[in-house]
Amino acid sequence: MVAPILVFDSGVGGLSVLGPIRALLPGLPVIYAADNAGFPYGTKTEMEVATRTCAILGRLTERLRPALVVIACNTASTIALGAARAVLDVPIVGTVPAIKPAAEQSQTRVIGVLGTAATVRQPYVDRLSAEFASDCLVLRYGSARLVELAEAKLAGELVTAADVAPELAALLDQPGGDRMDQVVLACTHFPLLTDELAAAAPRALGFVDGGAGIARRVAHLLGPNAGGVGGGRAIFTRASPHVDALAGALKSFGLETVEIL
Ligand code: DGL
Repeated sequence: MVAPILVFDSGVGGLSVLGPIRALLPGLPVIYAADNAGFPYGTKTEMEVATRTCAILGRLTERLRPALVVIACNTASTIALGAARAVLDVPIVGTVPAIKPAAEQSQTRVIGVLGTAATVRQPYVDRLSAEFASDCLVLRYGSARLVELAEAKLAGELVTAADVAPELAALLDQPGGDRMDQVVLACTHFPLLTDELAAAAPRALGFVDGGAGIARRVAHLLGPNAGGVGGGRAIFTRASPHVDALAGALKSFGLETVEIL
């Protein structure tokens, strides 16, 4: 039997990474784990995010023995990828802001990084900007509201362009933002709102995320072990009516059952 991969986030954001993984590797069994008891990560301290990420992944990898872990959360990855790799004996793929492809695609040399407050203040983002976008103006904005809106949308609530518009404006209205042509969706919740963000944009913008690249990395690391009969289940760290409301969205990503850790 093919061992499953474990895809981890604070909430439903990791589904934007699971989507491209499913598309590339439809036979891969998946366990999706969401630390909703610790949600949101983006407003927490570095210490809190690193402690929760390592503790929960430690418990889950011991119990589930996945072939590979995807930290499908920019906040957890930019803060705790190194720590998690140091303590866990399993290959780990992280999700970090897609600054490199955004810089490659930018004509105007102004790019935006839309993430959580915790992600946009990380030195990891400074390093990515220096390495891959040194000739670009890189503007950043941390939004907790977009994270909430993505959760609401997947729970079946109506989310409109008007709801997301103020968050996009907070990035575009910064000095130099009028020339921005690429926006890095540096929180895995945000690609779930791409249609609303595109509709709210005052002009055509490219929205760039790392999902497809992560799927290719997973395929490369698993090699011939990426087959199987597919299927999947979700694990949340706390029962709640919100988790019940997510059942339909989870099923649409092939996550048939929901358990509480
Ligand atoms: N989805 C997470 C990320 O990519 C964070 C959401 C949150 O819990 O604040 O950063």
